[in-house]
Amino acid sequence: MRDYLATLPAGDAGTVLTGRTPADVPDAGPVLCSCFSVGVNTILTAIETQGLATVEAVGTALQAGTNCGSCRPEIAALLARVQHREAAE
Ligand code: FES
Repeated sequence: MRDYLATLPAGDAGTVLTGRTPADVPDAGPVLCSCFSVGVNTILTAIETQGLATVEAVGTALQAGTNCGSCRPEIAALLARVQHREAAE
């Protein structure tokens, strides 16, 4: 492990050791779509900033849900949560 850490560029070893996202990189959140490594936060941000309203639109924007499809129900649940929250505002 020490040998591996020594091969990393300066500053990267700390990031590896803490297991946290660097401050200058957006936190993607827990992986929701494992086929394309797309996180919950990435999907929520895309829904809110791009006005995505369907699972298909999320797939077009991020590829999430476009391979095996097992994450599609979770993407639909995120869409419903955002739409429910917006309707309550
Ligand atoms: S887990 Fe998202 S398409 Fe397979």
